[in-house]
Amino acid sequence: MWTRLFQALLLVVLATCPEAYNKTCPHISQRTVRGHFVCTGSPTYYSCLFDTNRDNFKEYCKKPDFSAPGEYYVFTGSRRNIECKKTTYQPNSLWSNESSRCIFKKSLCIQIGQILYKLGSATEDTQCRCDYTKQYAFVVPPLNICSCTPSEEDCSCYIKQCEFGYILNADYQCKPQNQKSEAKCIDIENPGYI
Ligand SMILES: *[C@@H]1O[C@H](CO)[C@@H](O)[C@H](O)[C@H]1NC(C)=O
Ligand SMILES: *[C@@H]1O[C@H](CO)[C@@H](O)[C@H](O)[C@H]1NC(C)=O
Repeated sequence: MWTRLFQALLLVVLATCPEAYNKTCPHISQRTVRGHFVCTGSPTYYSCLFDTNRDNFKEYCKKPDFSAPGEYYVFTGSRRNIECKKTTYQPNSLWSNESSRCIFKKSLCIQIGQILYKLGSATEDTQCRCDYTKQYAFVVPPLNICSCTPSEEDCSCYIKQCEFGYILNADYQCKPQNQKSEAKCIDIENPGYI
């Protein structure tokens, strides 16, 4: 009974306050309800996109289209696809009726012992590594031994103890301290890796 009352109340709020959405768009779970109200008869045409001219979100009804991976739709007089913001990425196509931004947030490599390995792109998450110069190694060895993708794997680091006289090399192996060791992974000091 309370759930029904709440739903009814929600409908009234959604129906009577269109302005409430101009600073944001409805959550994906509320889109169908909102779609039925705004685009009567064709709820899947409901779109809520950022209007770059007016600096707020615009709701309208139009046959949906999808943008390529790495892109999302905004509204600038008409629908227009642009690249994901630097902090987000989108590995697959995105329907114009489903989101007003790229859905995935890029990882930051800020857990204990982590440092940045490679900046992500519009379609890929950031990659992290453990700071072997401070004795940090991966808890779970990642698929690629040199770097780890937080959205797909556990990228936690721990302090790996080496025997006296040994230090971690870039491949996270304990090697004699006074001997130059060949490593497969790039040195942290080498700025070319980002
Ligand atoms: C907010 O959006 C509604 C529906 O899209 C529109 O009618 C209204 O004018 C907008 N308000 C502002 C302040 O842009
Ligand atoms: C968006 O449009 C596509 C294609 O018509 C449809 O499959 C999908 O269910 C729609 N999504 C929503 C939230 O209405």
